Amino acid sequence: MYKLSGVTKQYSRGKETVHALRGIDLVIEDGDQVVIQGPTGGGKSTLLQMLGALDRPTAGSIEFDGVDIAKLSETKLTRLRAEKIGIIFQSFNLIPTLTAQENVETALAPMGTKPAERRRLAAEALESVGLGERLHHLPGELSGGQQQRVAISRALVKKPKVLLADEPTGALDEGTRDEILALLDGLWKEYGLTFIMVTHDSHIAKSAPRLATIKAGQVTITDQARQTAPVSY
Ligand SMILES: Nc1ncnc2c1ncn2[C@@H]1O[C@H](COP(=O)(O)OP(=O)(O)OP(=O)(O)O)[C@@H](O)[C@H]1O
Ligand SMILES: [Mg+2]
Repeated sequence: MYKLSGVTKQYSRGKETVHALRGIDLVIEDGDQVVIQGPTGGGKSTLLQMLGALDRPTAGSIEFDGVDIAKLSETKLTRLRAEKIGIIFQSFNLIPTLTAQENVETALAPMGTKPAERRRLAAEALESVGLGERLHHLPGELSGGQQQRVAISRALVKKPKVLLADEPTGALDEGTRDEILALLDGLWKEYGLTFIMVTHDSHIAKSAPRLATIKAGQVTITDQARQTAPVSY
């Protein structure tokens, strides 16, 4: 569970200060699915970075399972990210010189998983997203939708508690977008994930259980048809 209180983020560049987040209060329960929407520059990616423990707020607290992320040491933050949080980006962010299977394995390296076990788990994760036949392909030899499936496998192979996605369908055509969204929705339910997704797409936003609209660094929550995935681990 996340509990954000007064989360503020400012970026300073020379004399200029950008107020990216201006005092966000937000509770996200385990198993929630939250879609974040809002105009460009509104602070969506900044908020996702805070939730993903990739960066710290300038002020305020971000409790994750009762621990304030803003106060954790760098080592503890790294461990938290490696074990509990999976992240997917619009541009997939795969390593071009590694095969699909090796890309997925990178998520298990920080946990000290043995190489043979890493290979097995990565193959299993790729099979579960329909890529069992593409284990040894490089990202450049895969379609956009397939690359995003590899990125999803990499985010989920460690069985995280939270899945964060920053415009995961932004680089895909409409048909592939719908496939990836259906896949993510299925995985959310299957794994009991807390799933938080940024999108520009108002079609997706309309059908989201909870919608967080961010404008000028401030958030408004709308519970549209709140559902919680059954928590299975
Ligand atoms: N590293 C940074 N240094 C300085 N300013 C930044 C930095 N990252 C973001 N900003 C600024 O913070 C504000 C919020 O940016 P953010 O990336 O969170 O927006 P966004 O809602 O994700 O937009 P988009 O829809 O275009 O992705 C913007 O005004 C942006 O210019
Ligand atoms: Mg963004």
